[in-house]
Amino acid sequence: MAMTFERLTPTFAAVVSGVDLSQPLSADAIDAIHAGMDEHAVLVFHDQVLTDEQQIRFSQSLGPLEQPGAASNITKPEDKRLKGPIADISNIDKDNRLHGRDDRQRLFNLGNRLWHSDSSFRSTPAKYSLLSGRVVPPSGGNTEFADMRAAYDALDDDTRAEIDGLVCEHSLIYSRGQLGFADDLTDEERRNFAPVRQALVRRHSVTGRKSLYLSSHAGQIVGWPIPEARLFLRDLIEHATRERFVYSHKWRQNDLVIWDNRQTMHRVRAYRDTSEVRDMRRTTVAGDGETAEQVAA
Ligand code: OGA
Ligand code: MN
Repeated sequence: MAMTFERLTPTFAAVVSGVDLSQPLSADAIDAIHAGMDEHAVLVFHDQVLTDEQQIRFSQSLGPLEQPGAASNITKPEDKRLKGPIADISNIDKDNRLHGRDDRQRLFNLGNRLWHSDSSFRSTPAKYSLLSGRVVPPSGGNTEFADMRAAYDALDDDTRAEIDGLVCEHSLIYSRGQLGFADDLTDEERRNFAPVRQALVRRHSVTGRKSLYLSSHAGQIVGWPIPEARLFLRDLIEHATRERFVYSHKWRQNDLVIWDNRQTMHRVRAYRDTSEVRDMRRTTVAGDGETAEQVAA
């Protein structure tokens, strides 16, 4: 059966049919998925019943994976529900109990409700994220995606000139700080979350398209006064997440959604997370280098 791509919005995101991701794929199929990602930046696959092992194997066929750990979360190793290179994006603990309202892990995870790009707080940030919807709540919990290429294209010439060559500092301390959670981080967590530098404008290595590299983790523009940088980034995020740049994904059980963190931002919307289970599992394909280096080059 041939793989087909059907657009979900006029500018980005597509639903892919005709492929079973639980089975090993041919090199041609892998190439088609990469090409689809380059073009659409978000791909939706319905009815993909996957074990963690199958999700990991398919993800590895797209590139080396990021390892979740102390650089990206506050979960202690002994409290992890999932094993291996797969991140727990659920609202349940290792005993499958819902996080309580004041649970520290819940409060940290609320950061996913801010627009962000995954692992922009790592010096080599993520390429693709693959999110599998194992249990989805009856209402709420959509994931929204914003097309940072279209947002870049829509900037006026003055703004494009102003942002050319700018470098930002990204850290989980900044994103959690926006929610008032930064004071709750331990000294060790703060050390793990030390800021890294990222280019504010990226150029796609295959298509050559430029995009805004924004994220809730961005808290400083190198060389700028902090309040001015924060306001400027806030204005850019407001611009980049206007409705015409956004696709909102309503989850069905066993959807697998892949997004390109280099070309999009995303956020999860609210749901009744202290009373309804949402079990999402994420594998993450690593990027291929530092973005701030590309500015210098
Ligand atoms: C993520 C994330 C959003 C969601 O997995 O990186 O931000 O819908 N998830 O759970
Ligand atoms: Mn995310």
